Amino acid sequence: MAHSTLSFNLPSSIEANIERDLSSHFVRVVEEAAVASARTMGQGDRKQSDHAAVQAMREAFETVPIAGNIVIGEGERDKAPMLYIGERVGAPVPDGREHPGVDIAVDPLEGTNLCATGAPNAIAVLAASEPGGLLHAPDCYMEKIVAGPACRGALDLDAPVSQNLKSIARRLDRDVKDLTIIVLDRPRHERLIEDIRREGARIRLIGDGDLSAAIAVAVRGNGVHAVMGIGGAPEGVLAAAAMRCLHGEMVGRLVIDRPELEERVLRMGIKQPRRTYTAGDLAMGSHIVFAACGVTDGALLRGVRFFGEGYRTHTLLMTSSNNTVQFIDAVHMHRKPGPRGVRLY
Ligand code: FBP
Repeated sequence: MAHSTLSFNLPSSIEANIERDLSSHFVRVVEEAAVASARTMGQGDRKQSDHAAVQAMREAFETVPIAGNIVIGEGERDKAPMLYIGERVGAPVPDGREHPGVDIAVDPLEGTNLCATGAPNAIAVLAASEPGGLLHAPDCYMEKIVAGPACRGALDLDAPVSQNLKSIARRLDRDVKDLTIIVLDRPRHERLIEDIRREGARIRLIGDGDLSAAIAVAVRGNGVHAVMGIGGAPEGVLAAAAMRCLHGEMVGRLVIDRPELEERVLRMGIKQPRRTYTAGDLAMGSHIVFAACGVTDGALLRGVRFFGEGYRTHTLLMTSSNNTVQFIDAVHMHRKPGPRGVRLY
């Protein structure tokens, strides 16, 4: 498929095609974060795991030829030393040239507990778009329902759980009892879980990681059909970017439960904080790149594997405008193999 040129409303000398020119850089950025955090797997220290991922991702951005603006990151500038919202990232600009402006949403380690305990589905993630292409969401909660492409227009945050389950089942040509719904295992979901059980659908409770769960339900054949409940809003924007690439369906609404949060959201430029967003409202860019590298083994991605001469990574790379989904299985060698040749794990 031909690549169209993406202009970022900047002078023609700095036009760029985000998919063609930058995807390989973004793959490297998530690989570096995944490898650094995977080294801490099972150490029981989620902060250490997160710090390793953030630092590695921050350093990797230093060689990417972009004028990057972090719109979803590790938090506000005063709370996060690196990859905070509003931080500028990218390679230094060579004389007389400018790099293209790119908005970036990052979650250097999605599933800090999963990595710290060696549990499945920890990933290192980023999404990128032309400026203005990703919602600038605060680090609060979001109500979400995510499902695959067959459920286009069938999800409703204001409808009872039973109605959403019936709609999803109808679109997937099955009975409600044949659905498996992923829910974060949290006390706030007690009622949701009861409602799903009453309708007879099966449930997969997860400890963490509703972003990788969202990706899993948008891909057929994983045996899971929807994610329901309240999770992080940053993960919600990243899930929306993934849905744009996978044509998955999503509805989300920020949980604004304090006046200070409402003020903060308005200051961030969100005019109707209580509205329901679709994937296209949360990740509205014309050109979206989504990259996720496995940290621990998961449903879609293998975790990082280390061996004598190097390590092996498994990365999902997707773009919205040319409809490609790539799995990149890479062996990275830091020294020549021994006499018996290359070992892959
Ligand atoms: P971390 O990677 O920051 O630990 O977040 C993991 C996660 O489970 C997300 O997948 C989810 O959206 C969010 O936390 C839910 O938040 P909480 O743990 O406060 O319920």
